[in-house]
Amino acid sequence: MFESLPMAPPDSILGLAEVFQKDPRQDKVNLTVGVYKDEAGQTPILSSVKQAEARLLQDEKSKGYLAIEGLPDFNRLVVDLVFGGTLDHKRVASAQTPGGTGGLRIGAEMYAHHFTGATAWISQPTWPNHPSIFEAAGLQVQSYPFLNAAKTGLDLQAMLDTLSSKTRPGDLICLHACCHNPTGIDPTPEGWNAISEVLAAKKLIPFIDFAYQGFGDGLEEDAAGVRTILKSNPEAILSVSFSKNFGLYSERVGASMVVTQDENAATAALSQLKQTVRCNYSNPPRHGGAVVGLILADPSLRQIWIDEVKEMRTRISSMRSLFVKEMKGTGVQRDFSFLLDQKGMFSYTGLNPMQADWLKNQKGIYIVGTGRINVAGLTNRNVSSVCHSIAECIESTI
Ligand code: LMR
Repeated sequence: MFESLPMAPPDSILGLAEVFQKDPRQDKVNLTVGVYKDEAGQTPILSSVKQAEARLLQDEKSKGYLAIEGLPDFNRLVVDLVFGGTLDHKRVASAQTPGGTGGLRIGAEMYAHHFTGATAWISQPTWPNHPSIFEAAGLQVQSYPFLNAAKTGLDLQAMLDTLSSKTRPGDLICLHACCHNPTGIDPTPEGWNAISEVLAAKKLIPFIDFAYQGFGDGLEEDAAGVRTILKSNPEAILSVSFSKNFGLYSERVGASMVVTQDENAATAALSQLKQTVRCNYSNPPRHGGAVVGLILADPSLRQIWIDEVKEMRTRISSMRSLFVKEMKGTGVQRDFSFLLDQKGMFSYTGLNPMQADWLKNQKGIYIVGTGRINVAGLTNRNVSSVCHSIAECIESTI
């Protein structure tokens, strides 16, 4: 049987990270997968996480199964982190999931099962795993325009036009809460208002991917878009990831949330999330959720974590500014200052797949084929050589 299985193509992000690992060059630079690196090029375990883990090691009494929806304290605290006091938490059904990807899949599959024929609308471009997840969940997938012609900013009008003219009530509209992946381009507050109005007028369901809370402008500030959408749209699905802001990538911790009109609908939504979880992975892993729950519950650990998120955010933003300055210093024609308006880990450089290949082959600098770079992979030590290589690449590939 299996001899007829065709080879699947490598993953456009994680596949490149695998090739990077095998590259013997000493001075190689990995700007592919969205993983935070410190100035030493390491992905650190946060001190708040280490302290929470030490407490868990002491206090944990059992490795018995969690409930299907995960730890109650985790769910309560993450709902609070996302919505604060902006809506009645009883309207929200939340399940702890293995990462944000697990959250996306559970939310999408639950919706596809009950609202057959719905389409999920994704931004063009988006995280390449979005269409795969929505299709695997059983949804139709279509895209709405996102970038302006120069690919340096948002074309809000084109986005709104498509959402208002091409969608049907009940379609899911996938939005990135902040730090849009791959472009780093987020709507302004006015933009969020306009998007929110179109969704409400057309009775569309926001499906919000919230993977970078705290990496844009701040933990509260980054939730502003979500909260604006929820002001005029009583229903939504959210997937939340704690890979980046808690540095818990390999622990796989996230949440799938369904915002409903009232407590009764939330109870039913939770029962459906649970049924979807049960036939996928039965119940979530404990460790990551326990760490996040403990940090959010304990005022002193929480403060340490808030400071650590700020430190990561500040380093990324200073690397972004330095990148723009260094690119200017190379004398290259292209103006990269539009990167200063982008937020979070990623930037869309405008480099094409051929240039990405050139950088990999000639210089050992790995970026995603779409031209996305992980700004958090830059350091004071590598930024200058990365910029000079990019300048050389642009000049040799025109
Ligand atoms: C990324 O976009 O690099 C991250 O979200 C990691 C992943 O799973 O692709």
